[in-house]
Amino acid sequence: MEYLDFAIELARAAGDVLKHYMDREKQVELKGRANLVTIADKESEALVIRRILERYPTHTILAEESGVSGGREGGAGTWIIDPLDGTTNFAHGYPFFSVSIGFERAGSVLCGAVYDPCRDEMFSGARGLGSFMNGQRLHVSDTDRLGGGLILTGFPYGVREKMKAAMVQFEAFLFESQAVRRGGSAALDLCYTALGRCDGFWEMDLHPWDTAAGLVILEEAGGRVTDFAGNPFSIYGKQIVASNRKIHDEMVAVLAKCPL
Ligand code: IPD
Ligand code: CA
Ligand code: CA
Repeated sequence: MEYLDFAIELARAAGDVLKHYMDREKQVELKGRANLVTIADKESEALVIRRILERYPTHTILAEESGVSGGREGGAGTWIIDPLDGTTNFAHGYPFFSVSIGFERAGSVLCGAVYDPCRDEMFSGARGLGSFMNGQRLHVSDTDRLGGGLILTGFPYGVREKMKAAMVQFEAFLFESQAVRRGGSAALDLCYTALGRCDGFWEMDLHPWDTAAGLVILEEAGGRVTDFAGNPFSIYGKQIVASNRKIHDEMVAVLAKCPL
């Protein structure tokens, strides 16, 4: 598929930019109290946008650092880009971050690629064509009880009330699952669920660029993605529960007991 191949090419090129800055001055700036941006976020994003507009000048672009650009109608398709998912990790030299590139048309994410330059792991997926990591087909885990599951999550930046709600959820999952991990790259969290390295993931207040590519990769690996109430997921929504399908209802039941 043309768009999938291109997303993979872009994610790899952007990953090379991140790798280049791994052991260099990263020019860290604050966007909020704990929300960082670096020279690598900016250069990675600029490279991806330039390449898309060269090839598809009518396509729309939605990118974390620069917002909407390119053709404004959206009908031709929208590229949804997180040039560096896991900036806090990156800024500290903690090797868990990624590039995420999804392609959406008519309200559906058709394909996407997530690249982890530290492990050289390229996750990719396209509707109806399955999902892969470095050519290996992805399948979610077989874990069928939340009590036996390794669950991932992340925390929203900033707003104190939101953090408290997230901590209540965190505590509930600590009790109900085998273990909870907070990795720091939502795009990789979704891919790890697709690969079966973990069994589920939930988070509040993510953005379309965090989830677009990971959504199609996980769904094509047999996973299920909804909002906290078990309703259909939207990348433009504020809640995500993602799982191997088998433990999904149990995850939704845990969240139902947590006040927001
Ligand atoms: C962040 C990561 C993190 C998640 C945050 C995101 P960024 O993205 O995905 O895992 O917990 O909510 O904002 O800011 O590093 O691109
Ligand atoms: Ca992100
Ligand atoms: Ca980012």
